[in-house]
Amino acid sequence: MLFRAPVFLGLAGPAFGSVLVRRQASSLDSCPGYAASNVQDDGARVMADLTLAEPPCNVYGEDLTDLKLEVEYQSESRLHVKIYDAEEQIYQVSESVFPRPSSEDVDPSDSALAFSWTESPFSFAVTRKSTNETLFDSSAASLVFESQYLRLRTGLPDSPHLYGLGEHTDPFQLNTTNYTRTLWNRDAYGTPNGTNLYGDHPIYFDHRGSSGTHGVFLLNSNGMDIRIDNTDGQYLEYNALGGIIDLYFLAGPTPKDVSVQYAEVAGTPVMQPYWGFGFHQCKYGYRDVFMVAEVVANYSQANIPLETMWTDIDYMDLRRVFTLDPERFPLHMVRELVDYLHAHQQHYVVMVDPAVAALDYEAYNNGVDLDIFQKNPNGSIYTGVVWPGPTVFPDWFHPSTQQYWNNEFLQFFDPETGVDIDALWIDMNEPANFCPYPCADPQGFAEEAGNPPEPPPVRNNSGRIIPGFPADFQPPGQSKRSLHARHSDRGDTPTGLPGRDLINPQYEIHNAAGSISNLTLPTDIQNYDGTHQYDTHNLYGLMMSIASRNALLARRPNRRPLIITRSTFAGAGSHVGKWLGDNLSIWDHYRISIANILEFAALFQLPMVGADVCGFGNNATEPLCARWATLGAFYPFYRNHAGLDSIQQEFYIWPTVAEAARNAISVRYRLLDYIYTHLHRQSTSGLPMLNPLFFHYPEDENAFAIQHQFFYGDDVLVSPVTEENGTDVSIYLPNEIFYDYWTHERIQGSGSWIQLTDIPFTSIPLHIRGGSIIPLRAESANTTTELRKQDFVIWIAPNASNQAVGSLYLDEGDALVQDATSEINFSYDNGLFKMTGTFGYQTDAAIKNITVLGGNASGNETQQYEQSSRASAIQGPISLNGEYSHSF
Ligand code: NOJ
Repeated sequence: MLFRAPVFLGLAGPAFGSVLVRRQASSLDSCPGYAASNVQDDGARVMADLTLAEPPCNVYGEDLTDLKLEVEYQSESRLHVKIYDAEEQIYQVSESVFPRPSSEDVDPSDSALAFSWTESPFSFAVTRKSTNETLFDSSAASLVFESQYLRLRTGLPDSPHLYGLGEHTDPFQLNTTNYTRTLWNRDAYGTPNGTNLYGDHPIYFDHRGSSGTHGVFLLNSNGMDIRIDNTDGQYLEYNALGGIIDLYFLAGPTPKDVSVQYAEVAGTPVMQPYWGFGFHQCKYGYRDVFMVAEVVANYSQANIPLETMWTDIDYMDLRRVFTLDPERFPLHMVRELVDYLHAHQQHYVVMVDPAVAALDYEAYNNGVDLDIFQKNPNGSIYTGVVWPGPTVFPDWFHPSTQQYWNNEFLQFFDPETGVDIDALWIDMNEPANFCPYPCADPQGFAEEAGNPPEPPPVRNNSGRIIPGFPADFQPPGQSKRSLHARHSDRGDTPTGLPGRDLINPQYEIHNAAGSISNLTLPTDIQNYDGTHQYDTHNLYGLMMSIASRNALLARRPNRRPLIITRSTFAGAGSHVGKWLGDNLSIWDHYRISIANILEFAALFQLPMVGADVCGFGNNATEPLCARWATLGAFYPFYRNHAGLDSIQQEFYIWPTVAEAARNAISVRYRLLDYIYTHLHRQSTSGLPMLNPLFFHYPEDENAFAIQHQFFYGDDVLVSPVTEENGTDVSIYLPNEIFYDYWTHERIQGSGSWIQLTDIPFTSIPLHIRGGSIIPLRAESANTTTELRKQDFVIWIAPNASNQAVGSLYLDEGDALVQDATSEINFSYDNGLFKMTGTFGYQTDAAIKNITVLGGNASGNETQQYEQSSRASAIQGPISLNGEYSHSF
């Protein structure tokens, strides 16, 4: 028998009676836990049976009687602990979505971690062997494993330093009292703090200063609340609606080690094209192709480099995916625009939503023919409401959905006949649904809500600016024309416990949208493979990401797909990049964006990330947008994007912003190879390309909570002005030598705060960390294509021992499989500079000069450092195609 009979204080009635259960919630205290038996220990693995003790508590469902414990020492730094139902019916995140890391089956004596357990009531602990410190201890509360509720609590030291558990806009270092992180992907306009947002990344870093950092990753896609509180001793507690306990303990001991170890589990991030680091412009509400063209032209006129122009859903015919609005975005004009952009070494990107209009048109009919849309429990296609009105949703679990997606892409984005995009933007893939549950009348709801929105009136072409557009262009007539030429299989996972209430689970997570079925796909929808949205909702965005990447690869097999998604799950970074959704044009969101990009880049292994620069909702102001233009230049993904009702906020709109953007893009581009090198390093090793301060200075307690400064790459400290309309900023400099990026002034940091004043709105404080060697392009350029032709300069920033290191990765920039690459290492040791490594990629760009910041190393050290801003340099050209050394 799988379940104990529910015992509800002797009351008869349905097991899922919510009134009854809410009264019983307090009785979690009485949950009996489990007893371990039949323990088998074969060295690298421990297995045991867990049997429910008496009596069951059945608080939010029914207690499972028989569980299995499986513990595996997977590597010297990784321990896997899995607790699952003996009958293996409960959903486990599909291998095809989240491939499991391979195990090295190490001898426990070689592991940095030790697993121990208590038989009855069963609990387990993970300790760090080198310090004997307990990292995780589940005896803090009894294990509750019910049909629709899991509870696992670990005790923690007082006032712990915890990070992660996103996506959220809360402080980077998480609150530790009365704090709940809810993970249930949600369309979250305004990205309110304290709520669940678009992505699900159930990993936390627990940083314990000099005693080390470890990571804990729970591989579970179900909705959950993670409670962190100190009411009953300090603890962290998982409260999940289902799934299994599938924990990966990552030993560190440094924060960067944890990042690398997490990348071994979740996958290293995917390499992006070089041009993807260029500046991107977008807005919801570019009403026609002329307006898009005007923006391109205005950037050029304002002398602000624009790498990529984006178009939101405005291009679609009545917001239907895979169509073009024939009046506002006629195909031949869009193709003209794209040709123009390509001829000017620029790029073009458009948005695709998962929801397909439920209408007689190609994209819908093709999906119906292949039968790939999500179905109601009665077998009919589920209809919700998104931009075009009533819509249906692809079922990514269906074996034909990839074929469907590929076909739509191949036709609509055909480089010869369609919209020749260079990258892709995917949105609304939580998935978002405007129609509240149960959405009984999608048509009526859509009409009332005004979906699709009334398109803007058709303009004539008088405002056309782009040279090369046909002078005789006339908007075509009113006929609506589609661009189309009329044109599990997995079997690897259990599909979920039967008999659950998939709509109203008795434990209610703190979903800001209310019920888990509200404003998304109803959770009782069954996927093709028999799993349900209840268990897989949080995977929808990741699955769309994977399918979209495959579709772009089918279209252009050897080009790195740049895909920016809104919704993510753990591991998404190994397929796509991400933007942070609908922030607002407010100083608070400017500030919190730093913590958000650090989370994704350094903790979640999704480094191609950025917030909407100048903010999406509300209206930007000149000072805010100027500051944001400079901060955004240090996001890995740098895109200005505004909402439909927001004023235009392109960088050329305000003079200060234009100047700020020119300066910021110039620095960004000069440092582009430096950050590209870091992305390459992260994509091969997991070492993060952005670093919170405590990643470099794990023992410096002042650094633990810093969230307004960060290292871009390993060595450029970015310290933006954060006060509203302010020009001063107090910045923290750890105990290290730094060099002002702009003046090269040498500053001895001493683990204290220093006040910087009068920072113009067109600038941003930057410091180079002593001990580093930074390769920069000698000059910036208008596009990244031109940038690649520029020579380099090398800045050597010696540390207190008069030493420094750096690296430079070079490749062709765009191909998935590179024919030739260079991995160059720079070193500097008391006057001797060396360039070694591999030099497969032949480049005409040479090193123009090499500068030692802060003086000549061969002089008296004290004297040299006192002459703080003096530099010594040698002139090139020095080839980047082979080894080199020089004695200063
Ligand atoms: C929501 C996205 O977050 C936003 O960036 C976009 O502009 C709108 N959808 C319209 O497509």
